[in-house]
Amino acid sequence: MKHLLRSADLSYEELMELLENAKSYLPVLKERRGLDIAKGKVLAALFYEPSTRTRFSFEAAMLRLGGTVISNAMMKETSSAKKGESLHDTAQTVSRYADIIAMRHPEPGSVPEFAEGSIAPVMNGGDGAADHPTQGLLDIFTIWQHFGGIENLTIGCVGDMKFSRVVRSECQYLRHFKGLKFIFVTPEALKMNRDVVDMLKENGFEVEETEDLESVIGECDIISQTRIQQERFESEEEYLKYKGVYVMTPELMSKAKESAILMHPLPRVDEIQPAVDSDPRAVYFDQVRNGVAIRMALITKLLGL
Ligand code: CP
Repeated sequence: MKHLLRSADLSYEELMELLENAKSYLPVLKERRGLDIAKGKVLAALFYEPSTRTRFSFEAAMLRLGGTVISNAMMKETSSAKKGESLHDTAQTVSRYADIIAMRHPEPGSVPEFAEGSIAPVMNGGDGAADHPTQGLLDIFTIWQHFGGIENLTIGCVGDMKFSRVVRSECQYLRHFKGLKFIFVTPEALKMNRDVVDMLKENGFEVEETEDLESVIGECDIISQTRIQQERFESEEEYLKYKGVYVMTPELMSKAKESAILMHPLPRVDEIQPAVDSDPRAVYFDQVRNGVAIRMALITKLLGL
């Protein structure tokens, strides 16, 4: 395992190793302690697209491990990309400063392209609508922790499946498990791409697609809510057709199982009302801490620490 570029690249054994190691880091995070496992190592965080959680959690993970961080949150505007430097040359350069690199870019395929020029491990922090392997990992970690395993669960994925790199990533990891049912709740125009639906069916999973959240919410063990991503639409007019299409409210949550969990990768806009936050089934802020633990596990794995 040299890089983490695509969720599909991770084997079941590698995934389970990361989950177990992430679990061992949770006490460190809960006690707000630091380690010295990565002392002397440098993480570079190169973000060509906005982020709060992914960049800060990569940085927090490296700092908690005892390493250091060099970071640019505005690569497009303030790095030599602005002067026309290629991803390949940036990779050649930054990988001579840093031991490991976390990168986000709006173009699908850009992070794997960058990795070809890097002499250090590269972790994909999201490339357009293609993939978000570490968000998928932290979501799987959250499910695995909560249910004590991943089998015989019904997963309702709600919102924009067409552009959701997060749900694509989750599905790639979940294909390793047994007895899962997927319910994709989307407007017709934002349906999950056929490659993912076909992949899940080929792996023996039941897949249902509907536009009606209320009719299926009571069936779900996991309700995975997503944002309608304005930045992926060609025009504001197109986005406004779908904005607010599924809004989680306390009334809607009252129809969900008592044992269900409500997940969201965040940021949210209007798709989960703040009144839902106090529901013990809402785990989206637990996901945030889990994101640091799983990235600590990933960094140590890729650095061979
Ligand atoms: N979940 C996630 O990727 O959040 P950010 O866009 O804030 O990094």
